[in-house]
Amino acid sequence: MSKKLFIQTLGCQMNDTDSKHIQAELEKHKGYTATNTLEDADLIIINTCSVREKPVQKLFSEIGQFNKKKKDGAKIGVCGCTASHLGKDIIKRAPYVDFVLGARNISKIKDVVDIKGSVEISIENDDSTYEFAIAKNNSFRTSVNISVGCDKECTYCIVPSTRGDEISIPPEMIVAQIQKAVDNGVVEVALLGQNVNSYGKRFSSNREKYSFTKLLQDISKIDGLKRIRFTSPHPLHMDDEFIEEFARNPKISKCIHMPLQSGSTKILKAMKRGYTKEWFLNRAFKMRELIPNLRITTDIIVAFPGETDEDFLDTLDVVNQVKFDQIFNFKYSPRPNTKALELKEQEIEDSVGSARLEELIELHKRYLENSMPNMLGETVNILVESLKPNGEVSGYTDNYFLVFTKGSDELLGKFVDVKITEVTRTSLKGEIVA
Ligand code: SAH
Ligand code: SF4
Ligand code: F3S
Repeated sequence: MSKKLFIQTLGCQMNDTDSKHIQAELEKHKGYTATNTLEDADLIIINTCSVREKPVQKLFSEIGQFNKKKKDGAKIGVCGCTASHLGKDIIKRAPYVDFVLGARNISKIKDVVDIKGSVEISIENDDSTYEFAIAKNNSFRTSVNISVGCDKECTYCIVPSTRGDEISIPPEMIVAQIQKAVDNGVVEVALLGQNVNSYGKRFSSNREKYSFTKLLQDISKIDGLKRIRFTSPHPLHMDDEFIEEFARNPKISKCIHMPLQSGSTKILKAMKRGYTKEWFLNRAFKMRELIPNLRITTDIIVAFPGETDEDFLDTLDVVNQVKFDQIFNFKYSPRPNTKALELKEQEIEDSVGSARLEELIELHKRYLENSMPNMLGETVNILVESLKPNGEVSGYTDNYFLVFTKGSDELLGKFVDVKITEVTRTSLKGEIVA
């Protein structure tokens, strides 16, 4: 009987892809099969996130639970960003952990899995040309990493120290990987990197520079691929060439993530984001002008050290002007190995941070309550991709609205027109029109 593997994944989409790679590598090289039942597993892996303090605290309580529930002889591995930054301290604090594997070292999973006490976290490691085993995929979409690491130095962010320098994956490897997925039925791809639009600046071996725009053009030539998404682009690098390609290329989904972080130029400077409030607005408006049905999502950090009420008002002002469709809000969390720790004296009281977070959430809630009803009566085109137990199917529009409608499995993988009859703050419901 094959050995069973249970993986729990925290953090961002990149971690999800890393977990898929871990699973595929262990299936191919070590004969594991996946299970959703922790108690059945011979190997339990937690793929961790370090971006805020909370997920790190969660790690130790989580692995403590794993240790209690696991079957006799089962191993526990800690992978991902917290593994990178805590390294062997994880085994010191939780000696029942069998191995630690950093976010930049995923290709080494087959080497560490059988060595009790192994810790592989070198930030110099380069996985960018490693051919990972192909993960099983029963869905119409897949995610593909286009780079590893991050060269930015946003002063609040731990990621550059957990994932190391940015290296782009060669374009022909990316195209080949997507082509294989398309041959197996995938129609939509999400390109992933911490900073996708600095793609092509540095490769593992010497080769000519390459741009993200060119990569998008190359990928859209793949026959049978219908939709391309990507995350995260950096607002600083959204040049005209990129925006024009984004607007012009019919395969690129018309929903873009523009991580604002703060609307105050002063705070953006302290965060070392490299752009001003005006630049951000200019880019967002340029895109809105070229693409009328564009949806924009964002990340915002409130209560960064030194953020005054006035700075926060600048953030609210950008939110009011850009009219984001979705906002991921975070309260600033001081992280090890980050420049912002030097601003300790200017840290904002927790209650002020909570109040600002609340205000932002309320503002956005009110905006969606007002704007979503505008969709009533509209007809939208969706790619049906999942079957619900209640006789409904769901899918996304090109600009990434989630839509539900009545239907069965024969609709899966098809594009259909749906007339909207019901709206909530986050989704639409309607009837298929012929
Ligand atoms: N590379 C991506 C972000 C990865 S981290 C990008 O630049 O868009 C995801 C989000 O977590 C960030 O956009 C930021 O909003 C948030 N974040 C990162 N560090 C944080 C910290 N120390 N405190 C609070 N939120 C943080
Ligand atoms: Fe962190 Fe900035 Fe890199 Fe994003 S771009 S991962 S926020 S350092
Ligand atoms: Fe992702 Fe968290 Fe690492 S957001 S890059 S898993 S710190």
